[in-house]
Amino acid sequence: MLSNSRGPATLTQTVADLGPSVRAATAQEAAQWGELVVETVPFGRYADLPEQELQGKIVIDTANFYPGRDGQIDLGGLSESAFMARHLPGARVVKAFNAIAAAQLRDQGRPEAALEERRAIPVASDDADAKAQVMELIEAIGFAPVDGGTLEDSKRFQPGTPPYGADLNAQQLRQLLSS
Ligand SMILES: NC(=O)c1ccc[n+]([C@@H]2O[C@H](COP(=O)([O-])OP(=O)(O)OC[C@H]3O[C@@H](n4cnc5c(N)ncnc54)[C@H](OP(=O)(O)O)[C@@H]3O)[C@@H](O)[C@H]2O)c1
Repeated sequence: MLSNSRGPATLTQTVADLGPSVRAATAQEAAQWGELVVETVPFGRYADLPEQELQGKIVIDTANFYPGRDGQIDLGGLSESAFMARHLPGARVVKAFNAIAAAQLRDQGRPEAALEERRAIPVASDDADAKAQVMELIEAIGFAPVDGGTLEDSKRFQPGTPPYGADLNAQQLRQLLSS
């Protein structure tokens, strides 16, 4: 189920392109419906997210903070994801997919390849079970999930860090995250 800010009617073509199992809905409906909800809005829109409907849900936070795009936001020293999680009380926030470009996520998954040969994706959360479920999803779509620690630890793969945007295997990514 897909949603955006302008409403489901504006997603008709996208849904048609993706196939019969896909539906469009409001952000509230999508949040309520999903087991794993991917939140991928510009960081500065965090306050618009359907907080009520996301309670108890695993929320995959892909957002990156770019002040030029998002405006000046005081994160209070928190990582971007810990800040996001503070605004989604009760949600099981997992940081993932922020460090890979959308087109690469579509094209580089290799489910047939051995884990050590795949592109690695860093994952972080304060909720161990939620993190494990997202790592399972990442493996299923052909990437190698790498445990990047807690939401605070996700600072190590935010914009401007060496792993951000880098095409690495799991061993290389682990090395960078621990250096
Ligand atoms: N693009 C990438 O390759 C990439 C990779 C990794 C991480 N990210 C991060 O992912 C986030 C999204 O990036 P993007 O490139 O996909 O941005 P984008 O092209 O601007 O798309 C943002 C999407 O969020 C929707 N949206 C905005 N506010 C919303 C709200 N309040 N409720 C529901 N939907 C809302 C927009 O809907 P409308 O169009 O209807 O407004 C649009 O579909 C950013 O934080 C970015 O840094 C992007």
